[in-house]
Amino acid sequence: MSVNVKQLAAEKAVEYVQDGMKVGLGTGSTAYWAIRKLGERVQQGLKITAVATSQASEDQARELGIPLVAFGDIDSLDLTIDGADELDGELQLIKGGGGALLREKIVAMGSTRMIVVADESKAVQTLGKFPLPVEIVPFAWEWTVAKLAKLGCKPELRRNGDELYKTDNGNYIADCRFEVIPSAPELALSLQSISGVVDHGLFIGIASMAIIGKNDGSIEII
Ligand code: 5RP
Repeated sequence: MSVNVKQLAAEKAVEYVQDGMKVGLGTGSTAYWAIRKLGERVQQGLKITAVATSQASEDQARELGIPLVAFGDIDSLDLTIDGADELDGELQLIKGGGGALLREKIVAMGSTRMIVVADESKAVQTLGKFPLPVEIVPFAWEWTVAKLAKLGCKPELRRNGDELYKTDNGNYIADCRFEVIPSAPELALSLQSISGVVDHGLFIGIASMAIIGKNDGSIEII
């Protein structure tokens, strides 16, 4: 039987959750396994409160009986567990493949620790192969996309069938194909200077640890 490497990494991360913690719940197919394991532990008596980073994660947590609070109602979180689309050796990440990057970043930045959970295909030398998701406001999106292209990428507005994809915040996502991002901090600064950009999927200096599930069944911790 083949190993579910996403589950392996996610369940290891849940071992860091302790009684009384306030926990951020990530989004995506790896975070799904962390939420599932947390649900099991809550049913066995673990006392936590959680904040979800997407409607999908909120629905899953609710179904499992994990007590949820609105992030606005608390000061900070102890730990967030979330996936990534790419991560490098310095724990710089590309996130947002699932479209939840804005809430994920707000929650991760409000957490004392962020543990990234991923399978080994996500670990790279240099970020950029995965198209960088950038959340942009619908107003004058054509103008914003043209500005993004000037940064050296091929931006493509994400679609959901015939419609443009909308985030949980009502914005669009431009998936920006760079191929290589030589300096993530420099690119982050350039992206932030474009006024139609709400936020981007570069997470720099936010993650404190990565747990990577490997195909041979082992785990690597960065
Ligand atoms: C969602 C994300 C996800 O964490 C990222 O896309 C990884 O997803 P998966 O675990 O399904 O590969 O950033 O916005």
